Amino acid sequence: MRAGLSGTVYVAGHTGLVGSALVRRLTGRRDTELVTTTRPEVDLTDARAVDQFLQRRRPETVIIAAGRVGGIQANAMQPADFIYENLMIEANLIHGAWRAGVERLLNFGSSCMYPKHAPQPMTPELLMTGPVEPTSEPYAVAKWAGLTLCAAYRRQHGVRFITAIPATVYGPGDSFDLERAHVLSALIRKFHEAKTRGEREVVLWGSGRPRREFLYADDLAEACEVVLSRYDAGEPINIGSGIAHTIEELARTIAGIVGFLGRVRWDASQPDGAPEKRLASKCIRSLGWRPRTDLRTGLLQTYRWFLEHEATPMEREQACVSS
Ligand SMILES: NC(=O)c1ccc[n+]([C@@H]2O[C@H](COP(=O)([O-])OP(=O)(O)OC[C@H]3O[C@@H](n4cnc5c(N)ncnc54)[C@H](OP(=O)(O)O)[C@@H]3O)[C@@H](O)[C@H]2O)c1
Repeated sequence: MRAGLSGTVYVAGHTGLVGSALVRRLTGRRDTELVTTTRPEVDLTDARAVDQFLQRRRPETVIIAAGRVGGIQANAMQPADFIYENLMIEANLIHGAWRAGVERLLNFGSSCMYPKHAPQPMTPELLMTGPVEPTSEPYAVAKWAGLTLCAAYRRQHGVRFITAIPATVYGPGDSFDLERAHVLSALIRKFHEAKTRGEREVVLWGSGRPRREFLYADDLAEACEVVLSRYDAGEPINIGSGIAHTIEELARTIAGIVGFLGRVRWDASQPDGAPEKRLASKCIRSLGWRPRTDLRTGLLQTYRWFLEHEATPMEREQACVSS
């Protein structure tokens, strides 16, 4: 699908999981000038630096793929960083984009914004109707602020600023640092290390029963293009695969791909989090987008990337990625 995003596009956070997928998608196009900045060039928490940069470059489109992102542990350890940095990045880029006359802006929310016990699948009307998972509340509040900022600038200034809420994203460029990682990349690292060390057992937190929805980063990049060219409303738009897998299924699939032959022990004394998180993605489907990458294919690509970028040469040699 070629959805027609053209002109000067600034991808903020181009080195991250989502940003690097957007860069893969937009690079080399004749009709698109891709603009990126590194953190030393423009610290996005610095309002002046962001404003000066946007005034100078005046992109037509801004995609906010920058932020402080992480799993349960990172959210629990650095709640202040999570709320402060995300608030500043969103406020600086949204205000700066409006001042610089940016035509379209895409901001990302997160499924953490939905109430912990929301009925499934989750529709945008459920946002702010109940308490969120307490560990990620500071992150969720910053994400609500980003959504409200976009809607407020749209209402007051008539700008085309949109918020998309993706399911949990994974793919090449993910973080495999166990202190920061989401469940999927943490499982890849754990099974890989257990296999490399010849361990017979991997202990995983919780019961394995919660159901989660995962979205491959390159599928999200395609969806972003569809949203930016075909969606124009203040309400956020969910972007999900529509399929929720149990953590147990996910662990089994990853163990198979990595080639870990030992057993998995579930430590049910540890919390499970929300029983299910699945987004209602009817709206983005009606715009003609659907994900192309099934979980197994996406996991294979992600594990290959992990081996290339995170494993030692010896581990790479030993690894036999089963397809
Ligand atoms: N990952 C998910 O599952 C998921 C799901 C839903 C929504 N989202 C949203 O999607 C967006 C991107 O997430 P991601 O997973 O791609 O994150 P990520 O991999 O951690 O990447 C974050 C990006 O932001 C940049 N960044 C952070 N703070 C910065 C600062 N102060 N100045 C300049 N650059 C800064 C990072 O640059 P450095 O390279 O310098 O660190 C990196 O390029 C976030 O808004 C997130 O909330 C993500």
